[in-house]
Amino acid sequence: MNLVVVSNRVARGKANEPMTGGLAAALLPVVENSGAIWVGSSGRVRDGSQKEPFAEIEALGAGALAMLDLPAAHYGGYYEGFANSALWPALHSRADLIRASNGDYLSYREVNAFMARALLRFRKPDTAYWVQDYHFLALGAELRKLGVTQPLGFFLHTPWAGRTIIEGVPNHRELIESMLAYDLIGFQTRDDWENFVSYIESNLGLVAQDGVITSHFGRTHVAVFPIGIDPEKFAQQAAKAVAHPDVSRLRRSLDGEKLAIGVDRLDYSKGLINRINAFDRMWTVQPTLARTVSLLQIATPSRGAIEAYGNLQSELARLVSDVNGRHGEVDWTPIRYLNKGFSQTVLAGLYRTAQVGVVTPLQDGMNLVAKEYVAAQNPADPGVLVLSKFAGAANELDTALLVNPHDIDGMARTIATALTMPLIERRMRWEAMMDKLRSSTIHRWFADFVDSLQATRIDDAPAQLPESDLAAEWSLRSVNLSARHH
Ligand code: F6P
Repeated sequence: MNLVVVSNRVARGKANEPMTGGLAAALLPVVENSGAIWVGSSGRVRDGSQKEPFAEIEALGAGALAMLDLPAAHYGGYYEGFANSALWPALHSRADLIRASNGDYLSYREVNAFMARALLRFRKPDTAYWVQDYHFLALGAELRKLGVTQPLGFFLHTPWAGRTIIEGVPNHRELIESMLAYDLIGFQTRDDWENFVSYIESNLGLVAQDGVITSHFGRTHVAVFPIGIDPEKFAQQAAKAVAHPDVSRLRRSLDGEKLAIGVDRLDYSKGLINRINAFDRMWTVQPTLARTVSLLQIATPSRGAIEAYGNLQSELARLVSDVNGRHGEVDWTPIRYLNKGFSQTVLAGLYRTAQVGVVTPLQDGMNLVAKEYVAAQNPADPGVLVLSKFAGAANELDTALLVNPHDIDGMARTIATALTMPLIERRMRWEAMMDKLRSSTIHRWFADFVDSLQATRIDDAPAQLPESDLAAEWSLRSVNLSARHH
């Protein structure tokens, strides 16, 4: 099978580059090994006058990475507009933050249609397309409109909210109906699956029989595939990374003090305000903990052009400075707050340095930081994960200290408990979590989804499509590129 993976954000194969997206960083090693073609946005836009979508193509492992310039006239309405100001807040149960115009929806559909046209270039008779995330809910339907009959899979990295919240998204019915063009739709958790099925049954009047929905598009299988990491590889990276200059400088600066760490995109779904409030509460209620532990909070700015994100950045900066002003000393800063991204290598070393990992989103599809924090620990002296029960990861990492991120007192108490947890309990909890990570790796996730996608079509005759000239041209270029690469 010739796999084409599609996502808005893609990652280039450079281990030392800072990475913003959980999805892009997670997919990189598996896509690299699989020989798939990975198609996404270049991050640049181009006006609509060109006939063919413009893609920069480079070798990626055994496959290739194609980065497309998206249409300038529709990019804002698609990315900042419909994807991140309507779908993102709705999927994370923040109906109060939904903002979208009909124009944004039309731009979103235009970009999905544009991507579909661009994907024809990579079509071969045995191609299967695997689309990632909420940016491309309608891409499957656009591909079908163009006559694509090959298997189409879709995986949602975010949560899927309850149907009354989804109903707050403009054009939700048309959009979700279009999702049924996919042969397979994957979710992170059973809750997301149930919310989706409930929408389909109540709003579209269709039935999901044993996870299969029948509509005018045919059959759509819906299933749960919790995404994982490569825990062994991450552990090795973490053990090596302690020698990295950034990590050793951090260690020297601690001087016996304990460290808690939080690493997030600067996003309202991550519960950053509540987390800072919990640390504030802890130092207020237990002043003896001042100077014995500080928080390193990395909050990488993202989607800055959207008002809700700009407001959060200002609010967070004010809050951190207020907490530091009240609890700090001439030689002690309670919260080290950084607005920049770090490479996976450095992050692995920072996680290993911290005695407590705080991952407290209000809602999260999975949250791979939680899994990476666990994998990065020293087995002889592991740190403690404080994890929101509203992160998808809590389903598997149930021996973390689970918290309700809305309960500031409860979080403050739990962080203090984590700081004093005896080694024997830390090891027991950590070993149980590592077992889970080992049994549900990113490699397994990738293989399970691709196998299930193939299985959805097992009875269908293979599509007999002529190879397009562009596909042939791409093959030639890819051979040349691969030859240069190795
Ligand atoms: O599923 C959500 C997601 O795709 C994550 O993988 C990633 O953290 C984030 O969204 C990327 O957002 P953006 O590309 O807008 O920075």
